[in-house]
Parts: sequence; structure tokens; C-alpha cells
Amino acid sequence: MEDDIDRVLVDEQVIHKRLDVMAKEIRQDFPGEVLVVVVLLKGAFVFAADLLRRVPRMLEIECVNVASYHGGTESSGVVSFLDHKLPEVKGRKVLLLDDILDTGRTLKAVVDRLLEEGATEVKTGVLLAKDKPHAEDVAADYVGFYIADEFVVGYGLDYQGRYRNLPYVGVLKTPVS
Ligand code: XMP
Repeated sequence: MEDDIDRVLVDEQVIHKRLDVMAKEIRQDFPGEVLVVVVLLKGAFVFAADLLRRVPRMLEIECVNVASYHGGTESSGVVSFLDHKLPEVKGRKVLLLDDILDTGRTLKAVVDRLLEEGATEVKTGVLLAKDKPHAEDVAADYVGFYIADEFVVGYGLDYQGRYRNLPYVGVLKTPVS
């Protein structure tokens, strides 16, 4: 598996140091309240697990399965809610976590849904944000790293279901399209 990686973009130690800082910001921004955390599957599961274990607050963690890539390396532009049931968020503050902000369509679609369902506030956190104009007018409140506009894998991110378990974020050797 490691042989397929051309270069490591963000190594494990760097990710973990950055998570310490992000977790501190989240702790400070939500001092006392019970927070609903919505984790977007599958890509954000590693990021969320490592980040949230650094947030010693009362959290209600829910996962929602969405897809926008459908197996390739280009966003399809259509965000599908693979689960139709969202957590109960009426009157609640929500922290929404995703692996990467690319076109912004995923975050925008889910933020809109959560607000429609009555969330009073939705903050967003991503491990990575591609440094490019996003198709949708969204910005994440907590960003681990800004990266160039290239396809990355590892630390939860996949290519055709593979590489999610790499402990770092890297770029595949063979240009994939
Ligand atoms: P949008 O375009 O909606 O994309 O902001 C967010 C979702 O697309 C996936 N994505 C990637 N997955 N490597 C991946 O493995 C990438 O470079 C990449 N860029 C976007 C990801 O699922 C994310 O939630």
C-alpha cells in the first residue's frame, strides 16, 4: 500500500499537533454546553475520532453517510444523503466535521439541511481545505491544513475505498483521474 504513495503531504505527527490546537479552539468556543457533533462518513471517521478524543466536553456524536465522489477523483456535483435520518438537532448547536473541503457542495448541503431541521448554530471543521475558490460560498470554521488542489488519500480519505487507514495524508503515485 505504501508503495503506491508518491509523497507524504501531511505526516502523522504534524496532524496530531494540529489536532491539539483545533481541539483547544473547539473547547474554548463551546465552554459548557452539550454539543451535537455530526461526522460525515466515511471520510471523516479517522479525523473525528482523533479530534473528539481531545475535546473533554459532553458530546452527542452522530454519523451521517453522504457521498459526492461516487468512487472517482472528481466530485460528482451531487451530494447524496445515503442515510435519510439526520440526528435531532432542533434548538441545538452543532459541530459538523468532514475530511476535506473541496467544491464546498457537501458542507453547504449538510449545513443547509441542519439549519432547516432547526439547529440554532452550525460550526464546521475539516482536516483539509483545498486552496481554491469553492463552487459554493462556504468556509469552514476550523481547518487543519490548506492544501493545493490535488487528489489526496490517507487519514480517512480514500481512492476507490482504499488507503483510508494510512496514518498520514499523501498523494498517489500514478496520476488518477
Ligand atoms: P466537496 O467537493 O463537496 O467534496 O467539498 C467533499 C468530499 O469530496 C471528497 N473529496 C476527496 N476525497 N481525496 C479524497 O479521497 C480528495 O482529494 C478529495 N477531495 C474531495 C471527500 O469525500 C469530501 O468529503
